[in-house]
Amino acid sequence: MKRIAILTGGGDAPGLNAALRAAVKTAINEYHLEVIGIRNGFDGFLQENGMIPLDQKSVQGILPRGGTILGTANRGNPFAYQIEKDGKTITLDRSAETIDRIQSIGIDALIVIGGDGTLRIGCELWDQGIPVVGIPKTIDNDINLTDFTFGFDTAVNVAVDAFDRLHTTAESHHRVMVLELMGRDAGFIALYAGIAGGADVILIPEIPFHYESIQEKINQRISAGTHFSLIAVSEGAFPYGGEKKYWMQENQVYAGRLGGMAEQIMHTLIEQSGLEVRTTVLGHLQRGGTPTAFDRWLATRFGVAAVNMVVNRQFGRMAALHSNKIDHVSLRDALLEPKRVNTLGDTVNSARCVGISLGD
Ligand code: F6P
Repeated sequence: MKRIAILTGGGDAPGLNAALRAAVKTAINEYHLEVIGIRNGFDGFLQENGMIPLDQKSVQGILPRGGTILGTANRGNPFAYQIEKDGKTITLDRSAETIDRIQSIGIDALIVIGGDGTLRIGCELWDQGIPVVGIPKTIDNDINLTDFTFGFDTAVNVAVDAFDRLHTTAESHHRVMVLELMGRDAGFIALYAGIAGGADVILIPEIPFHYESIQEKINQRISAGTHFSLIAVSEGAFPYGGEKKYWMQENQVYAGRLGGMAEQIMHTLIEQSGLEVRTTVLGHLQRGGTPTAFDRWLATRFGVAAVNMVVNRQFGRMAALHSNKIDHVSLRDALLEPKRVNTLGDTVNSARCVGISLGD
């Protein structure tokens, strides 16, 4: 084993640089391997100057930095590559070209750091004979067979800080504050941040909500003399019998982009009860900036594990965290189904026990 490549794909997540740094240091210090960084996800294999050598110097000082020094892309699938031609979007299969390129640079393994989309491409490349090892990252925490992905803890902490700030202004103005959080179709960010941030109502995609239940919780608080409430709403949450809200529908290039549920809730509550309601959409603040200590710790351990897996030829597998221990699982098994909040699990139950309404 002489040379390995590494890439980051999909939406960025705090901790990507920490994982890159750990992988590069382990590869060089422990195994004397040469490391090539692929720029902008899988696109780098198809781009001029899409690859750069990574050495100790290239990863110096990047542990606390958000984003990824390699760049990323969430539309760069070599199996379904999108290009614009004559004003139309055309989908091309550029996987053969990508595989040729991977083989021509003579790498012994490819480490793919990504969420479900990127890891799925990695899995397809593994099916085609490319020795791939995966590292799970995403603020959404929606990858199965690992307790956590890195990026999630930072997103939750940013959201909790937002709740702390909304709390004081909500209390002063006797208002209902609705905070919309990311997570796609998984409610982990809203659930964890809602509990840690003292939300009174938490709405997640796994539990369709009723407006009456939200109103009931707010009324209970008013009757008890508390004239403000905090609501955490996942971007993928939806009313019972209703639909999710998208600000951008799915198209040939992008999956649909969720957003707008906080505003819908605000208008409904104002119409139904005349309450004073305001919304905040936290958006990409949850993804940018410095990773928390937990995310640096997890990303570092995943980066080290991935290189060890490469050296031990444990391909087609993904680094994973189980009860605080680093492990590895089959990539294919991890991607069979997305991870969702267990609505009967202890986290949801804890929320209920401390009086939080889940809107059901
Ligand atoms: O998967 C991470 C994530 O931040 C989701 O929580 C969110 O729905 C989506 O990406 C936003 O994507 P984009 O950055 O393309 O707007």
